[in-house]
Amino acid sequence: MTTPVIQTEGLTKYYGRSRGIIEVSLQVEQGEIFGFLGPNGAGKTTTIRLLLDLIRPTRGHVRLLGLNPQRDGVAVRQRVGYLPGELALYPDLTGQQVLEYAARLRKNVSQDEIARLAARLEADLRRPIRTLSHGNRQKIGIIMAMMHRPELLILDEPTTGLDPLVQQVLYELLEEVRREGRTVFFSSHILPEVERLCDRVGILREGRLVAVETVSGLKGVAVRRIDLVLDGPVDPQPFRAVPGVREVTAAGSTLHIAVQGSMDPLIKAAAQHTVLNIVTYEPNLEEAFLAFYRGDGR
Ligand SMILES: Nc1ncnc2c1ncn2[C@@H]1O[C@H](COP(=O)(O)OP(=O)(O)O)[C@@H](O)[C@H]1O
Ligand SMILES: [Mg+2]
Repeated sequence: MTTPVIQTEGLTKYYGRSRGIIEVSLQVEQGEIFGFLGPNGAGKTTTIRLLLDLIRPTRGHVRLLGLNPQRDGVAVRQRVGYLPGELALYPDLTGQQVLEYAARLRKNVSQDEIARLAARLEADLRRPIRTLSHGNRQKIGIIMAMMHRPELLILDEPTTGLDPLVQQVLYELLEEVRREGRTVFFSSHILPEVERLCDRVGILREGRLVAVETVSGLKGVAVRRIDLVLDGPVDPQPFRAVPGVREVTAAGSTLHIAVQGSMDPLIKAAAQHTVLNIVTYEPNLEEAFLAFYRGDGR
């Protein structure tokens, strides 16, 4: 057994009397992309700040790369890359200047790596930070987190504000990190991106880790909504008997359907009709995992 790259034990943080996170025990293994999923306010940022010793726990322990971040902070910072949720960069410096400054602090950064990442992300390094859009600033933050090729990348909602093409580039970069045997821990409140990218997912709700699942396990419990637009009204009853279908309501020639797990049986049932359109909805986290949260998910 190799040492987990991230290990927390009973990690708990109260801000005064208000809950940050409660009893989070979690292990992330080398070479995986681990998604840390939860709605706003669930405690994702709190957990990440505790991992990096930016704040101190009320109770519990953290190990990163086998090190204690409270004691071995310098070693941890050398080997870990971090993108904060709210990035603060010197507004009057250009991207290039910010990155040079950060690279000098680190010492182990190659200019080629900065250039490679900037090219991939199409980051404009010549303009002052204050003139950049949120998404373009985020690119600078991503380069800063990755430029020293860290063993562990910790990203707090990295895709926020990125346009979809750049999101795809980021996903590719993270997959490359994994291919090299390095590890990624990233938080998100967006289910599809976590499903696309991650090996395993931890789901945080109201400060508690309610599930740690493989992505295929997650897909088996997630509830999704789809609308089938048919060429005329149909009886919803047969659809209610389709495996995985949890709910069907008919409105004119449209069926609104909630389905858990695989869509395949539903699609095959739909194929017996004339389907004019299928509308799928980005699953709402709360809804997708309601069964999980109630504790009767399987
Ligand atoms: N500095 C703080 N002071 C007081 N409460 C905080 C502070 N930071 C976060 N919280 C609270 O802790 C909870 C978790 O927040 P956070 O970790 O930011 O969640 P997330 O990143 O999942 O949106 C929220 O209820 C939030 O209001
Ligand atoms: Mg957050």
